[in-house]
Amino acid sequence: MLSLDDFEQAARRRLPRPIFGYIAGAAEDNQSLRANRDAFARYGFVPRVLVNVSARSQQFDLFGRRYDAPFGIAPMGLSALSAYRGDIVQARAARASNIPAILSGTSLIPLEDVIQAAPGTWFQAYLPGDPARIDALVERARKSGYETLVLTVDIPVSANRENNVRTGFSTPLKPSLRLAWDGLTRPRWLAGTFLRTLLAHGMPHFENSFATRGAPILSASVLRDFSARDHLSWEHVARIRRQWPGALVIKGILHPDDAALAREHGVDGIIVSNHGGRQLDGAVPPLLALPGVLDAAGDMPVMLDSGVRRGGDVLKALALGARCVFVGRPFNYAAAIGGEAGVAHAIGLLRAEVDRNMAMLGINRLDELHPGLLRRDELPGR
Ligand code: GLV
Repeated sequence: MLSLDDFEQAARRRLPRPIFGYIAGAAEDNQSLRANRDAFARYGFVPRVLVNVSARSQQFDLFGRRYDAPFGIAPMGLSALSAYRGDIVQARAARASNIPAILSGTSLIPLEDVIQAAPGTWFQAYLPGDPARIDALVERARKSGYETLVLTVDIPVSANRENNVRTGFSTPLKPSLRLAWDGLTRPRWLAGTFLRTLLAHGMPHFENSFATRGAPILSASVLRDFSARDHLSWEHVARIRRQWPGALVIKGILHPDDAALAREHGVDGIIVSNHGGRQLDGAVPPLLALPGVLDAAGDMPVMLDSGVRRGGDVLKALALGARCVFVGRPFNYAAAIGGEAGVAHAIGLLRAEVDRNMAMLGINRLDELHPGLLRRDELPGR
């Protein structure tokens, strides 16, 4: 595995098609998914040379902590279906490398177990539909020791994930001939992830949608939170802000006016994101939305996810003003293939790319990055 993309090819062979398809897929025509990658190619570096770059450091500070590399692991649902104890594996590898990791609200391992295995992990919640349930979930995250709460706000309704229908993925996961066949023909996944999980922990549940656990994922009903979210508004953010004592982050902002509202509501940071292209297809790539969001965000830290695959991408986002970025799918694939060591390897690759590119850009510290080291190609279609 020489680059983050290599993990995808290996995971495609390792995982049943419905599960690989759920991770790899996006919404409708994948316009945003493609645009997320293309956006990075629209910026070129204009490096400085003959600078003494022998004192390079990737450290940066965020919410009172110092991290060792400017990228983290984005929240991804159902990670324990693709890798044994997937969420814990990702969080532990991140902690060992001293980078941030965000546990997904649609994970299959209780949030208490993850923070115990990897203190410092952030928790991402999808807001349940009604205030009593919101309060209970937020309180549960607080009591378990989370200090950073991420609210994902780009999901007022479920996205049109046609690819899930095509690959046979659903929640609850329906037993099907394809799943059975794919399981039998992928014995490393069947024995190493699925049966191992079943024997050690029972059938997985959605564990973190409410204050209590849900029902098994291979069953008729599963208590993932399917309650209506289309009425949620900034009033709910204001309520959570009053309740949550730690750092509060909003993920899924693309419009500068929403960045301004987040700031007005006392939010501590935002993640500019189009959910890896998995929600509104056609939503602008975060890299292109970043400058406008930064203008509105004032001194609030702005982070970014969606489409980051190379150290050069990380540095482009930071040069434009992001504090750090988050990377999703490749770390999920790395966990599926190599467990914690696989994720550590993926982190190491990206960190080495950042380091090498810092040297070739002529910088020693991340705060030396600035837009003057980039040039934007205005040609359409690149
Ligand atoms: C969950 O957040 C997903 O995008 O599937």
